Amino acid sequence: MIWLKVSQVLLASSCLVSSQVHSQTAFEAPTFHHPIRRVAVVGAGPAGLQAAAKLVEHNFTVRLFERAPHPGGNWLYSEETPVRESYPDRPVSQGAEIPAELPAMRFYSDGDDGLTLEDRWAEHWHPRPLWYTLHTNSPKVSTELPDVPYARDTPWVLDAHTIQRHVRSFASHHCLNSNDYCPATLGAPPVTAYSTRVERVEKDEETQSWVLTLRRLQRLRESQRIQAEWWTETFDAVVLATGLYTTPHVPDIDGIVDWSKAKKGGQYSVYHSQRYRHAEGYVGKTVLIVGASVSASEIARDLSPFAHRIIASVRPPTDASGERQRSFARFPNTTEFVPEIASFAPLDEHNKGIHHGKIHLINDSVLEGVDEIILATGFLDTPLYPPNSTERRHLHWTGHYIHDPTLAYTMGRPWTMGRYQSYGFAKVWQGKAQLPLPEETKIEDGRRNGTFWRDMWLGEAICRRYVNWLNDASLKDGGHFVEPPSIETLELLKYYTVVHLLNNTVQLDGLGAFGLSMLADKLRTEISDPWTGLVDEGLDW
Ligand SMILES: Cc1cc2nc3c(=O)[nH]c(=O)nc-3n(C[C@H](O)[C@H](O)[C@H](O)COP(=O)(O)OP(=O)(O)OC[C@H]3O[C@@H](n4cnc5c(N)ncnc54)[C@H](O)[C@@H]3O)c2cc1C
Ligand SMILES: *[C@@H]1O[C@H](CO)[C@@H](O)[C@H](O)[C@H]1NC(C)=O
Ligand SMILES: *[C@@H]1O[C@H](CO)[C@@H](O)[C@H](O)[C@H]1NC(C)=O
Ligand SMILES: *[C@@H]1O[C@H](CO)[C@@H](O)[C@H](O)[C@H]1NC(C)=O
Ligand SMILES: *[C@@H]1O[C@H](CO)[C@@H](O)[C@H](O)[C@H]1NC(C)=O
Ligand SMILES: *[C@@H]1O[C@H](CO)[C@@H](O)[C@H](O)[C@H]1NC(C)=O
Ligand SMILES: *[C@@H]1O[C@H](CO)[C@@H](O)[C@H](O)[C@H]1NC(C)=O
Repeated sequence: MIWLKVSQVLLASSCLVSSQVHSQTAFEAPTFHHPIRRVAVVGAGPAGLQAAAKLVEHNFTVRLFERAPHPGGNWLYSEETPVRESYPDRPVSQGAEIPAELPAMRFYSDGDDGLTLEDRWAEHWHPRPLWYTLHTNSPKVSTELPDVPYARDTPWVLDAHTIQRHVRSFASHHCLNSNDYCPATLGAPPVTAYSTRVERVEKDEETQSWVLTLRRLQRLRESQRIQAEWWTETFDAVVLATGLYTTPHVPDIDGIVDWSKAKKGGQYSVYHSQRYRHAEGYVGKTVLIVGASVSASEIARDLSPFAHRIIASVRPPTDASGERQRSFARFPNTTEFVPEIASFAPLDEHNKGIHHGKIHLINDSVLEGVDEIILATGFLDTPLYPPNSTERRHLHWTGHYIHDPTLAYTMGRPWTMGRYQSYGFAKVWQGKAQLPLPEETKIEDGRRNGTFWRDMWLGEAICRRYVNWLNDASLKDGGHFVEPPSIETLELLKYYTVVHLLNNTVQLDGLGAFGLSMLADKLRTEISDPWTGLVDEGLDW
């Protein structure tokens, strides 16, 4: 992105010189009610796994809670799908039923409360939103966790299954996989708790510790039941690493519920992007993709060799952010763009698909002959917040909650920033690093549109802050030093962005048709900036 434009030589040296930035930023030692020993990490995706590994390395007593049965987070592929329609995703803080007396245990059979065992299981862990043939938009150099490098011959553009194995390798390397148990002392509790969802995070004012309410589900195959257990555990500090993509977003368009019931040959005709599977199934079909997200453009690319027509219903961009224009540029050149959908006219019947249905667009045109609709409408960010903290607000750039730094959030790209951030959590809670003064670097809104977020949180500036902060702390109180991304990495990113990402896509000139000519210019400028490849993380998947 242009505001991060910086020459490589400057970049490398500025990332290593500490005094300049340090003098602009004031720090103070956080005071804790009592020493931090027990730490909970919520979420075993790329961010949570790194936090847990780093905290274990620093001798904290760690518990890692993950609602899914295995590590991987977003990259844990599953054919299971969430059960949104019949069992809407409720923010866990409001309404997931917790028994009055804890600990508690219950058994469920098929059909209890009108839920199948499959639905009850899926509602617990929210199968992850991946389509089968997903490939990354970030190259492997910037989508790699420490300690477990990809093999040299791994392609630059990674498929989802390769990343899944990579994240699992990291988990296994640190004894955090679902089948690992490496107790620090004989009989110590395991670090990991999979299939365990954190239902509540609360501070006990008296003991000044965090109380987590937990629910674990187990499938009892022999008796064909599900066992649910609830209990609480107490911690001195908590890392919330639950990611940004917690709930699939289904837009509220007139008639969409009616259409989502339409089937043909037993197959539904309207999918959230996560349900879409194999491109071969779309041979000869007319496919309408709703949204201009990364998923929308990447799925369109996937389907284009197979589908008869690909139509994309997109809304004109409301902001000037780079990633949306990049998604646009990734649509195949055969894509027919249409405006937003106003409504879906009621269907005569639901067992003949949607081919004869009428889709009204906001410009008064009517679209017909669509065989399948893929909702690539992104996700809602519905994370787990302690009471009185309803957004990712009031955070230091280190991820610590300003009003109580025993709580921390993982933020930014875990691949590139997670290593620094995790080390920061460990150092602060060990009393071996200070925190920036709140007024210096407060993040008012964790979403990425704020000026602070844009200028300070992404890419080069935040990297420089981390390297300076951590290395200063290590000089003073001991600990290893960290390094910024190597020049080689940045060169590879630059090459990838210029040569690969924009290869074989619509001409940038074609963007003029969508009122995007200005943005096309911006894109042309941006592709010379390797940091763009390091920092991409939108809410728009
Ligand atoms: C479709 C899609 C494609 C993407 N492609 C790319 C890409 O190409 N390149 C890239 O760099 N990034 C990509 N991303 C971004 C992706 O989010 C990151 O790569 C990465 O997975 C983020 O890691 P994380 O650990 O922060 O969150 P996640 O990977 O989402 O992990 C969060 C974990 O927290 C768990 N959790 C949540 N709530 C609870 C709870 N209450 N109790 C217990 N556990 C809980 C979840 O089950 C999950 O396992 C993509 C995202 C999506 C949705
Ligand atoms: C963790 O404990 C071990 C054993 O006591 C010690 O050798 C090591 O230095 C400690 N690590 C850190 C980072 O404090
Ligand atoms: C679209 O892309 C294909 C494949 O790269 C190319 O052969 C074709 O000429 C392009 N069509 C247009 C109209 O640009
Ligand atoms: C509505 O938009 C479509 C796609 O851009 C276009 O083909 C059609 O002519 C438009 N209809 C009207 C009434 O402007
Ligand atoms: C939440 O806010 C209310 C009112 O501002 C306050 O009385 C209460 O103590 C707060 N609770 C916590 C856990 O901070
Ligand atoms: C940033 O996002 C918030 C919340 O989504 C919104 O209220 C605000 O208007 C946005 N600010 C800008 C500058 O777009
Ligand atoms: C660019 O696209 C062409 C045609 O699809 C392909 O043969 C080539 O390998 C691509 N180049 C890169 C660097 O991906």
